[in-house]
Amino acid sequence: MRSVARGVVRPPGDKSISHRVLMLASLARGKSEMSGLLTGDDVKSTARVLRQLGADISRIRDSGVRISGSRLLAPGSRLNCGNSGTTARLILGMLAGLSGSATLTGDASLRRRPMRRVTEPLKQMGADIEEKGDGLPLTIHGGTLRSLSYTSPVASAQVKSALLLAALTGKVPVTIREPYRSRDHTERLFAHLGLGIHERDGAISYQPSAVSIPAFQLAVPGDPSSAAFLVAAAVLAEQGELTVENVGVNPTRTGFLVALGRMGAHVERVNLRDEGGEPVADLLVRPAALTGTEVAAAEIPTLVDEVPVLAVLASRARGTTVFREVGELRVKESNRLELIAANLRAVGVKAEVQGNDLHVEGTERAPRGKVETAKDHRLAMAFAVLGTVPGAGVKLSERKSVAISYPNFFRDLKRCFA
Ligand code: S3P
Repeated sequence: MRSVARGVVRPPGDKSISHRVLMLASLARGKSEMSGLLTGDDVKSTARVLRQLGADISRIRDSGVRISGSRLLAPGSRLNCGNSGTTARLILGMLAGLSGSATLTGDASLRRRPMRRVTEPLKQMGADIEEKGDGLPLTIHGGTLRSLSYTSPVASAQVKSALLLAALTGKVPVTIREPYRSRDHTERLFAHLGLGIHERDGAISYQPSAVSIPAFQLAVPGDPSSAAFLVAAAVLAEQGELTVENVGVNPTRTGFLVALGRMGAHVERVNLRDEGGEPVADLLVRPAALTGTEVAAAEIPTLVDEVPVLAVLASRARGTTVFREVGELRVKESNRLELIAANLRAVGVKAEVQGNDLHVEGTERAPRGKVETAKDHRLAMAFAVLGTVPGAGVKLSERKSVAISYPNFFRDLKRCFA
């Protein structure tokens, strides 16, 4: 691959927003219609589970998806959430306030991921949950809930959203505080649909009302976390320019662009607009020489899914980059923290985990070696980007996992950097 960036590319629909609009439209009264939805496997998992609860959802296509909401009921059977933590945790919240029972499970990666961060506060709301350890499978019996004021020990949009959805289906008030502000798509959608949500002094409160959720139409913006891989490849190119169109630039998601700016790559945002309560822009990216930076703990929630690709960029920067307090990466689709460091070392980069911090030392040497993705989509894409560097010889253990969040990733990468 030559290192020239060129052309215009559109990343797939935002994964977080796609899950949420499917869930809210399934709870709404009437027919909703969405365009730009992510067609990746994780969103298909959410659609499959919602159909089992009684929602009528057409095939997941990015051109358009129709959803007929209805009175959802837990079917008394198994709900397979595949690889998707967002599906499992948010659906758990929804089920807490619905009638019926269900057993949630998922693939081997998802079954290893912690669920207590959601089941604990849900139990405090009165949810009846049978669990064996801190993970799936677990069984939830929906029922009457009570209000909750909760301070989450982790800055997690999945925890926050699960509690908001439980409050919505259980028709009880909830107030949530978190150590740092995590992505706020659920809050924005609630506000967009006229559901009683407000924020005061960093606390998010939902107050139920008698009004039912209206059916709605929405164009889902492109996913900034998927766009980040294309942006990174363009920054690492030797010449050219890339336009990444229709990218969500919600400030709770743009920490990657902020950190990149400090490292010396200024990504221009043009054509700024609003789509269903979310800010959207086109990004203009040019190659840049990078220097290392320190990414503070407070920034991590705004770039949590971008740490793998930012670490890859750090490996091409002058000096050292430190990511503070990234222990959460141990419980993503893989142990991302250890695997980022191990894979960087495998291709000749000095990288190590110290406590909960990740240190990456930049080098000018071409990366060469074998990368173990552990079927983690973001590791596969981050190291594929590293493989576009001149002289690189990066061999991925597999490429299929990109179907989780960016099915056309390799096609787009080839088209824009060939
Ligand atoms: C997500 C929240 C984040 C993120 C994940 C999607 C969401 O997880 O890593 O990819 O849609 O709410 P946490 O809530 O565990 O931080």
